[in-house]
Amino acid sequence: MLDVNTITVIGAGTMGSGIAITAAMAGIDVCQVDVSQEQLEQARGYHEKTLGRNVAKERMTQAQADATLARIGYATETCKAAESQFAIEAATENEAIKKKIFAGMVETYSNDCILATNTSSISIGSIAKSVGPAADRVIGMHFFNPVPVMKLVEVIKCEATSRETLDQTMALGKAMGKTPIAANDHPGFVSNRVLMPMINEAFHAWNDGVADPESIDGIMKLGCAFPMGPLRLADLIGLDVCRDIMLVLHNGLGHPDKYKPCDKLVELVESGRLGNKTGWGVYDYREAAATA
Ligand code: CAA
Repeated sequence: MLDVNTITVIGAGTMGSGIAITAAMAGIDVCQVDVSQEQLEQARGYHEKTLGRNVAKERMTQAQADATLARIGYATETCKAAESQFAIEAATENEAIKKKIFAGMVETYSNDCILATNTSSISIGSIAKSVGPAADRVIGMHFFNPVPVMKLVEVIKCEATSRETLDQTMALGKAMGKTPIAANDHPGFVSNRVLMPMINEAFHAWNDGVADPESIDGIMKLGCAFPMGPLRLADLIGLDVCRDIMLVLHNGLGHPDKYKPCDKLVELVESGRLGNKTGWGVYDYREAAATA
């Protein structure tokens, strides 16, 4: 099995920056790429904060934290192209943008570099098809937020994905300290096929007046041993992301109403309440953020 020592992560948002720090903490050199310098600086700030917390908790020494940070290069253009054994795309959840990035990945990285996407719902087969002969190196590597904490990586193979690509991806997931579990390329894969309808149903329960958000979350948290309730989790994921994943299920699975995004969810998204990232979603975080 290939010993992965260098990867590129394309996209330095919440997921991309989380994947980068998780890989660096596992001893892998990382090139963190984003078109936005500001986004790269935010990612670096997040990396410093995460490492600082580990030092404060005496999980690593300052020297180890410095060495981990030094493993990450930040670039607005591709870097470590020749050395990267994996390029993991974690950019905007938009199929056209992802296909454009994949076309660039095929051009930039070596002929044996594995081309992974952290998409939460876009068809891996459709991305693979867009890269022609490189299709056998395309795979889904779906991480969970917050990446350094969540143990799973859902590995999604499509028809074109080779056995070698699957094996290498499972091995990288393990090397990053995760438990990789493979699934097939269906709308929402396993995680979002099961999770999102539950979140959507929580919006329906709120909309129908079954209970207020605090009570819905309290009931699910204490009654089902969830770490956080479905509505607070929706805020963490992003309400726009939840709506978009419901639309992928709605359009892809062919039931007229079963996967339709709840009106309440759509209403909040359209009013700009997207969750933690805008300071207001189901819950209002603005006062807490101002006093933090
Ligand atoms: N980055 C790094 N570490 C983080 C973090 C972040 N963004 N957020 C929290 N942590 C760490 C904290 O530092 C803390 O670590 P220590 O124990 O080492 O101090 C630990 O996680 C616990 O954090 P807190 O004490 O602040 O809070 P908590 O105990 O309430 O846990 C939580 C917070 C980890 C987010 C927990 O509530 C949880 O697991 N929630 C569920 C998250 C979940 O389901 N994620 C999946 C979403 S679905 C998805 O991502 C895929 C998709 O396609 C939509």
